[in-house]
Amino acid sequence: MSGPGTALIVGASRGLGRALAAEYARRGWHVIGTVRGEQRTGLHELAEKSAGRVTIETVDITEPQQVSALGERLSDRTLDLLFVNAAVTRGNIPIGEVPEEMFVEVMVTNALSPMRAVESLRALVAPTGTIGVMSSRQGSIALNVNGGQDVYRASKSALNQLMRSYAARYADAAHTLVLMCPGHVHTGLGGPDAPLSIDESIPRVVDTLERHRGEGGLRFVNYRDEPVAW
Ligand SMILES: NC(=O)c1ccc[n+]([C@@H]2O[C@H](COP(=O)([O-])OP(=O)(O)OC[C@H]3O[C@@H](n4cnc5c(N)ncnc54)[C@H](OP(=O)(O)O)[C@@H]3O)[C@@H](O)[C@H]2O)c1
Repeated sequence: MSGPGTALIVGASRGLGRALAAEYARRGWHVIGTVRGEQRTGLHELAEKSAGRVTIETVDITEPQQVSALGERLSDRTLDLLFVNAAVTRGNIPIGEVPEEMFVEVMVTNALSPMRAVESLRALVAPTGTIGVMSSRQGSIALNVNGGQDVYRASKSALNQLMRSYAARYADAAHTLVLMCPGHVHTGLGGPDAPLSIDESIPRVVDTLERHRGEGGLRFVNYRDEPVAW
C-alpha cells in the first residue's frame, strides 16, 4: 500500500507534531492537525501556506467530550493514519517527591488520554490504515538502567502496556499499530541538549510509518525503524 492519504495528527501545534504535519503535507497527504485553545500556533502558519492541504481542529485529549466531538466533526472522513502525538513532561523529580496531582496529570495526559483518543477515533481509520502513538525509548522497561524522569518514563511504559492490551483486544482488526520512538530531539519537551534536530528525526519517523503501512499487528520501533526493547 502506498501513495498519499489522509492523516489526523493529534497534538500538532509545535515540536514533533507540527513537523509531522508538515512532512506529511510535503509528501502530498491531506493533514488534519489539532491544537488546544484559541491561540495562534505554528500549525496555523503551516495551514495558511498549504493550499488547503492542512486543516486545523481543536481538541484537548484530556477532555473526553472534546475527543468524541472531534470524532463527530470528522465522521465523514476516512483516515489512512491516526497519529496521537500529544504528551507532557513535568521535570526530573524522584518518584518519592512527586506531588500526587503531578503524577495524575502526566499519567492521564500521556497514557490514559492517548488510549481514549485511539478508542474513540479508531472508527474513522480505514480498515487497513495505521494507528500510531508517540511513545519513547524512555518507556522501555528493559532499557531503563540509568533511571531519571520517573513519572514521564512510567507514563510511556503504561502507554506501551495499554497499547499491547488494545492490540490484543482488537486482534481481528487489520489496522497497523505503531508505538514510535522519535529519538531524543531538540524541542520544548526534548530540551536544548538533545542530540537530534527535528529534521533529523521526523522524515525518518514518516519513512518508518510508511514502511509498515498495511502490515497489521503492533510494533515498538524508533525513527530508524529499529525495534525498541519492551
Ligand atoms: N522531543 C523528544 O526528545 C522526544 C523523545 C521521545 C518521545 N517524545 C514524544 O514526542 C511527542 C511530542 O513531543 P515534543 O518533543 O514535540 O513535545 P512539545 O514540543 O512539548 O509538544 C507537545 C505537543 O503536545 C501537545 N499537547 C500536550 N498536552 C496536550 C493535551 N492535553 N491535548 C492536546 N495536545 C496536547 C502540545 O500542545 P500545546 O502547544 O497546546 O501545549 C504540543 O503540540 C510526545 O509524545 C513526547 O513524549 C519526544
